[in-house]
Amino acid sequence: MTILLVDDDETIRTQMKWTLGREYEIVMAEDRPGALAAYHKHKPTVTLLDLGLPPQPNDPGEGLATLSEILQSNEAAKVIVVSGQAEKKNALEAVGAGAYDFLCKPVDPDEVKLLLRRVSYLAGLEEEYRELQRNSRVDTFEDMLGTSRQMQGVFAFIRKVATTTAPVLLLGESGTGKEMAALAIHRRGARKDGPFVPINCNAIPENLLESELFGHEKGAFTGASAQRKGLVETAAGGTLFLDEIGDLPPTIQVKLLRFLQEQRFQRVGGRQELESDARVIAATNADLKEKIKTGAFREDLYFRLAVVVISLPPLRERGDDTGLLAQEFLQRYGAQNGKKNLTFTPEALRAINCHRWPGNVRELQNRVKRAVIMADTRRISAADLELTSGTSGTMTLKEARENLEKEMVQQALKKHLGRISSAAAELGISRPTFYELMEKLGIERE
Ligand SMILES: Nc1ncnc2c1ncn2[C@@H]1O[C@H](COP(=O)(O)OP(=O)(O)OP(=O)(O)O)[C@@H](O)[C@H]1O
Ligand SMILES: [Mg+2]
Repeated sequence: MTILLVDDDETIRTQMKWTLGREYEIVMAEDRPGALAAYHKHKPTVTLLDLGLPPQPNDPGEGLATLSEILQSNEAAKVIVVSGQAEKKNALEAVGAGAYDFLCKPVDPDEVKLLLRRVSYLAGLEEEYRELQRNSRVDTFEDMLGTSRQMQGVFAFIRKVATTTAPVLLLGESGTGKEMAALAIHRRGARKDGPFVPINCNAIPENLLESELFGHEKGAFTGASAQRKGLVETAAGGTLFLDEIGDLPPTIQVKLLRFLQEQRFQRVGGRQELESDARVIAATNADLKEKIKTGAFREDLYFRLAVVVISLPPLRERGDDTGLLAQEFLQRYGAQNGKKNLTFTPEALRAINCHRWPGNVRELQNRVKRAVIMADTRRISAADLELTSGTSGTMTLKEARENLEKEMVQQALKKHLGRISSAAAELGISRPTFYELMEKLGIERE
């Protein structure tokens, strides 16, 4: 356990080190910049902070500023301030500002030891608690949100394959998070410090794609005025992500196959055999088996790529995740646009649940983003999302209206803890009308 000792008086530092050095790792600083640098470098469990620091050793200002900066960078930091007998007021002020406790000079060795033992015990408990909380937060994984069984399965699979270097093939409809999954595999693996190099195989014309992937020598073709490295080389030590692999032209499929087999390749116009250990992750929303049948995709390449296959389920099959993601995006884009406390109307929530989401997470993201920008109230409606409210075609208008009324009355009652007058006011109707509605819809007050 490390203790940071901040005091401008060398004699005191030496004494303290002598008192505590046997039990603790001691690092020292004599002013505010030194203290902050040492704090960030050593992450001490406890900081013993003298309030009178240079340039004004007789004023608590520097000490209090140091305290506040430490707490700003880590609100759980344990700082014990040390002050002269006559300055108890300052010490109390420091405690008010978040210091854990204070000691008066001259510091009694037994007292400081006792206090440190207590703080370190507390710090240990807090750390344990934080660890517990971290582990119980299973709804996100590398920024991917998902509590559904399907997504938890995907996360578990990613964790497993991340530790290998085998190629991975990611399948899924557009917008299901294939690129996010590829990045998660990269970041979870041994190559996380290497580059993650994405390339979209259908965004680049065939004649340029080979040189983009494998590079070219000077003069290899008109316009090749200098030698250039390809992405396979750039991704060495890291991950090469081949998006829309189903659109890879046959000539390049052969070269990619060879690279996967031998980790070797040649630049366009080059003779030299080059090597790269880039890990390959590919993705597609096309049916590769179908493409193999029609001859558009090589079967041998497929088997090389598909050592591990991860399928990202469409959003409509992820249960409650749709609502969870919608709320997350609502808060995120609300914050980005300076709009606080945005909510969906019940009708919007129903529409979100009923929509088929052909564009999956990306579509949801775009609709919410747009709605946040366009909406002029705090409540986002189905219309703001450009969704039709989630009533099925077989419902009559009367049924639809009753459903909506029921939902709104129930929500209002719940929100106002059963207080009729407030609930009625929220819906803009009178108390008698509210009672009538409850009667008609068969709603009981809880
Ligand atoms: N589980 C998730 N949690 C949060 N955001 C997600 C999740 N999945 C996808 N996204 C977001 O949705 C968008 C689409 O994801 P991504 O680009 O990874 O999908 P894709 O399958 O590669 O799509 P496409 O087929 O269109 O290339 C991104 O903005 C991404 O951040
Ligand atoms: Mg993609």
